[in-house]
Amino acid sequence: MPAVRSTASRKAEAEIAVRPINGFIGAEIEGIDLRQPLSPAQFKIVHDALVQYEVIVMRDQDITVDQQMAFGALFGELSIHPFSPNLADKPEVIILDYSKDNPPALTDIWHADETFREAPPLGTILRAKVVPEVGGDTLFSSMSAAYRGLSERMKQHIHGMEALHDFKPWRPLFSHNDRAKLRKLEDEFPNPWHPVVRVHPVSGRRILYVNQQFCVRIKDLKTDESDTLLAFLYRQATIPEYQLRVKWKPNTLVMWDNRSVLHYAAHDYYPARRTMERVTVKGDRPVGVSGAYAPDAVEANGMVKPLIAEGTRPGPKRAFDRY
Ligand SMILES: [Fe+2]
Repeated sequence: MPAVRSTASRKAEAEIAVRPINGFIGAEIEGIDLRQPLSPAQFKIVHDALVQYEVIVMRDQDITVDQQMAFGALFGELSIHPFSPNLADKPEVIILDYSKDNPPALTDIWHADETFREAPPLGTILRAKVVPEVGGDTLFSSMSAAYRGLSERMKQHIHGMEALHDFKPWRPLFSHNDRAKLRKLEDEFPNPWHPVVRVHPVSGRRILYVNQQFCVRIKDLKTDESDTLLAFLYRQATIPEYQLRVKWKPNTLVMWDNRSVLHYAAHDYYPARRTMERVTVKGDRPVGVSGAYAPDAVEANGMVKPLIAEGTRPGPKRAFDRY
């Protein structure tokens, strides 16, 4: 009976609440049960929240990995990580199981996932299974907010720049005897040049698209210039206003828009156990801002830090402020 279904689905949509968490990033979504398939209208609410708030948090999702994969598949084809150990029969699923005998590695650094690929993932879905009593939070930083926070002069400076990305954290896994294997992976994942400022394919927002886990250098700059500029740009992710810090509980599910945020897993719970299930959705090749520089006209998400015009900051003027 289609009429009954339609009433039920309207009710299900009406029960969804999207609540922003911080001014620049993050929303908690209530009223979704991922044990059931989402209707197209429910999925649209979740998808739009992801694009707008960049990180979505859903609590109490006691789901199987198959249900997590089904949720991911709504966003696109799932991706298989070339280095992380995955489930033998479901290679799209990575189990991150850290404990005394398997300390966490490679995640306590600001990064977007797999930007060493020509087409890095659209998004990543993590679900908590075992959570340490204290610690083990994941931090996120909005790189669209970070871009907006730069001065116009700096935005002009980095306009059109490209950065080289590499799977460098995994290189030490290959010993001298594994060189043939490493060469094969280098052929499979040739270093991509990604724009330093990426345009989000859905929202059109500009995103500061560099991360210290995978970036090597900026094209056409001297090494010292590139290192200095990258260090400055990396620092933007550490500005607290751009951040969200997720405290996990068992069955908390978080999805982040891997095109527009960086993340960092706080390494403060060893030797306690922390177990997560991860599913990743394939993305497209990053595209930069085309043509000559013009200020960004796309409306920003949420609040924007008000610009204080030159010389209008209240308070006594200091000699060096006059120039
Ligand atoms: Fe990651």
